[in-house]
Amino acid sequence: MNKKKIFTIAAGILLSCVGTLSAATQNDTLTSKLYADSVKTGKALYVNNCVRCHKLKDPAKYTMAQWPGLVKKMQKRSKITDEQRKLILSYLATEAKKEK
Ligand code: HEC
Repeated sequence: MNKKKIFTIAAGILLSCVGTLSAATQNDTLTSKLYADSVKTGKALYVNNCVRCHKLKDPAKYTMAQWPGLVKKMQKRSKITDEQRKLILSYLATEAKKEK
C-alpha cells in the first residue's frame, strides 16, 4: 500500500467520524421533526380513511392498549397498508385515552 492510499483511507475514516458526530447532535431535532411529520400524516390518514363507514371515532375513546388491535381490525376494512396503519397509530398515541 502506498502512502497516498493510506492517507486517503485515513481521511475517509476521519470524515466518517466527523459525519457521525454531527449527525448525532442533529439526530434529536431530526427525530422530533420526523415524529411530528408522522403524527401529521397519521392524522390525515385517519381522517381520510376512517370515516367511510362510521363517524370518526374519538381517539380519546380508547387507550393505546386498545388502539393497535382496533386499527389492525379496521385495516382490512379500510385497505390501508401496514405503513399507513403505523402512521395512524402514531397520531392516535398523541390523543388516546390515558391509561391509569
Ligand atoms: C369498510 C368500512 C370501515 C372502515 C373503512 C373503517 N371501519 Fe371501523 N368499523 C366498521 C364497522 C362495520 C364497525 C362496527 C362493527 C365492528 O365493531 O366490527 C366499526 C367499528 C369501529 C370501531 C369500534 C370497534 C369496537 O370494537 O367497538 C373503531 C374504534 C373503529 N371502527 C375504528 C376504525 C379506524 C381507526 C378506521 C381506519 C383505519 C376504520 N375504523 C375504518 C367499518 C369500517
